[in-house]
Amino acid sequence: MNKKDQIRKSVSRAYAEAVTTGSGCCGGSSCGEATSNKTPKGVAAKTAGYSEEELASLPVEAAVNSFGCGNPTAFAGVQEGEVVVDLGSGAGIDLLLAARKVGTTGRVIGIDMTDEMIVRARQAIASAGAGNVEVRKGIIEDLPLEDGLADLVISNCVINLSPDKPRVFSEIARVLKPGGRMSVSDIVVEELPWWLRRIPSVYNSCVGGAISESRYVEGLESAGLGDVEVLDRLVYDADQMTALMLSEVPSRLKTVVKKLGLTWLVRFFARRLEGKIWSARFSARKRMVTASAA
Ligand SMILES: C[S@@+](CC[C@H](N)C(=O)[O-])C[C@H]1O[C@@H](n2cnc3c(N)ncnc32)[C@H](O)[C@@H]1O
Repeated sequence: MNKKDQIRKSVSRAYAEAVTTGSGCCGGSSCGEATSNKTPKGVAAKTAGYSEEELASLPVEAAVNSFGCGNPTAFAGVQEGEVVVDLGSGAGIDLLLAARKVGTTGRVIGIDMTDEMIVRARQAIASAGAGNVEVRKGIIEDLPLEDGLADLVISNCVINLSPDKPRVFSEIARVLKPGGRMSVSDIVVEELPWWLRRIPSVYNSCVGGAISESRYVEGLESAGLGDVEVLDRLVYDADQMTALMLSEVPSRLKTVVKKLGLTWLVRFFARRLEGKIWSARFSARKRMVTASAA
């Protein structure tokens, strides 16, 4: 197995655990077990920008198993009849929100590599009675989709986890129709000590693999996408950073950290990282093919 496959395997294992036991990943364990009050599990997801009405309208398994860091369908201007693709669709929260907007004449396709997430998403789709949504198993670096299929590509806190981001950006460009658009929420990191990046749990919690906002924009542009913009930013404060970092500490170790009174150490690092990590909302468009370029 090559290095990239190893990273994907570690990420997938972490998210399988997160969705089945409520531990780890973008804030899972610190947020407790799934409840019926539809509070998302992820630390970042709690501040992601879903309205109470949106959460209340969703099947509980989709709402509580949200691990995103934004709400990409909220500002994507989703139209009836459109084809929407969600990269790393998880338990299906954004699939269902998009499905409602595209209506029966549109269609929504989620891609995820983790079986346990796909099972949850399919349960949520069945509970919602959404006949216009499907989930395909696959990796976002090699999408199981034909060229020029999508009017809109969305993704919520996933691309940071990819070991090959240029490839993901190229895949977005490939599956979009000419003129099609992208609306992605993701974590970006301006500065992170190299040794923190090496820790798998920091990677899996959406921080260790994150790139800077400028590299993200360059990556999208290099893939041939146009009108690349950062529409919004949510900069995490020290409390949110502490929760994000503790979210990936295995529960036994977390008990030790608390018993030894070492939470201050986590807070110390969190304060050092304050202002350097945020969730950004990127938008882009695939250029129309002009007569001269054709
Ligand atoms: C942080 S969760 C976000 C899930 C969902 N977008 C949400 O907002 O709740 C990351 C998801 O992306 C999937 N994922 C991560 N890397 C992937 C890759 N390279 N290919 C396919 N799926 C991936 C994981 O299995 C997991 O379901």
